[in-house]
Amino acid sequence: MKKIAIFVSGRGSNMVSIIKAQKNGLFSAKIDVVISDNKDAEALKKATRMGIETKYIYPGDKKGTISKSASNLILDTVLKRDISLIALAGFMRIIKRSFIKTFKRPILNIHPSLLPSFPGLDAQRQALDYGVKITGCTVHFVDEYMDHGPIILQASVPVFNNDTLESLKQRILKMEHKIYPEAIRLVLENKYRIEGRKVVVEDT
Ligand code: GRF
Repeated sequence: MKKIAIFVSGRGSNMVSIIKAQKNGLFSAKIDVVISDNKDAEALKKATRMGIETKYIYPGDKKGTISKSASNLILDTVLKRDISLIALAGFMRIIKRSFIKTFKRPILNIHPSLLPSFPGLDAQRQALDYGVKITGCTVHFVDEYMDHGPIILQASVPVFNNDTLESLKQRILKMEHKIYPEAIRLVLENKYRIEGRKVVVEDT
């Protein structure tokens, strides 16, 4: 059976939606390990409560990146476990190019905007401040740049006049929890092909 590793830094609601989808049989794979760069992440407690093994790896001192030694340690962990797919779920650090090249298998990320709009931090606030009427979320393959790789699935969400940051975040999050498990299923079951940077979903 294929194995999934989920990387988290914080709350872990997307992680929970993936674990639940797996438990409900949306896709057939084992959630093998949850890895965090933050030992206090709420996600780690949630994963443990849901019976998933967790691992904390000290990422180094530089915000947003992973030190060479930590990157190698994480790589070693996922290779030894024969992980088929990594899902970044609120993981707040850039994955190194060398990691992606050596791992070779799919690494997915979820971002709370319709990329390429509003990459980076505070995507929902960026959308609200810009005044867009529609925003949403994106699941994409991870490449060496932030919030950049080929797009697998997106969902749109309306922005209302009376939205607060919190209400918009909640509306987007609800869609994140739908499309992330679905994108994982498509990738695990190989229901796509890549043409340049375009992911063509072939789910018959
Ligand atoms: C989500 O909004 C996700 O799109 C972004 O970080 C947030 C993580 O939330 N990458 P959670 O930890 O999954 O609850």
